[in-house]
Amino acid sequence: MTDQIKFKPVRKAVFPVAGLGTRFLPATKAIPKEMLPIIDRPLIQYAVDEAREAGIDQLIFVTGRGKTAIVEHFDTAYELEDTMRGRDKSLEALEPTRIQPGNLVTVRQQVPLGLGHAIWCARAIIGDEPFAIFLPDELMIGRSDGTGGCMKQMVEAYNQVGGNLISVLEVPHEEVSSYGVIDPGKKLDGFGGALTEVKGLVEKPRLEDAPSNLIISGRYILQPEVMRVLENQGKGAGGEVQLTDAMARMIGTQPFHAVTFAGRRYDCGSKTGFVEATLALALERPDMADEVRAMAKRLLGV
Ligand code: G1P
Repeated sequence: MTDQIKFKPVRKAVFPVAGLGTRFLPATKAIPKEMLPIIDRPLIQYAVDEAREAGIDQLIFVTGRGKTAIVEHFDTAYELEDTMRGRDKSLEALEPTRIQPGNLVTVRQQVPLGLGHAIWCARAIIGDEPFAIFLPDELMIGRSDGTGGCMKQMVEAYNQVGGNLISVLEVPHEEVSSYGVIDPGKKLDGFGGALTEVKGLVEKPRLEDAPSNLIISGRYILQPEVMRVLENQGKGAGGEVQLTDAMARMIGTQPFHAVTFAGRRYDCGSKTGFVEATLALALERPDMADEVRAMAKRLLGV
């Protein structure tokens, strides 16, 4: 038996996209924050691309009122395509928006009770399979050396160790209170230092209570049992049902590991992170890099 078939494969991904996006108002009054573009792709597209690169193609969006543009984005745009064809224009740019019929499902989170509650809303579709979670605010860009995106690296680790995995990264100590923080155990042999046991998890700890400066960076592979734990998960930090608290209760009952992503992460939930991602990605695009570099120099007066 190969390592690849020891564990149930990860085929489903949950994208919690019901958030109100208040940090980007008024831009997000009529447009979901997940539809804000980094250059010419909305944030949700980057997350979906990352899922597919990892071999995950059953997409579950936990949405809310006012979020229909996300589903429209992944549908056929008949008039647009017909007009473009008539004008002999290439439809290539639309390729990433095409989803196999039946591979996109939405459920609604009627009331914003927290990330844990949003994930629990997908329980009937998850059934008894492991599943991935993507927080689209966190933009994860893989290296150009072929190691792949964050979820691809996580799926590769999952195929070796099974259980539950979360992506982590180091942040300056004074920032830990904005995130879920792990209490790291020993590093596993054979993963180049990238796989660490998780002994504990705490959501948005006070600086003095944080067990480390390794934060959860918005990618998860979880076993379906977490849904049962979420079922009776009380409110935690910020008065919300926290996924981190439910995961913490699973430690000891199932394997739990953290993957340090080899690549870059941009926090597009913050305005400066959003601008940084836009600039960084523009500087990497052959069709834009020279012009953007010259523009940046001009603006900085250097
Ligand atoms: C959520 C999670 C937190 C994680 C963070 C990553 O927090 O609850 O554990 O570290 O995403 O962005 P939120 O940003 O929704 O407050």
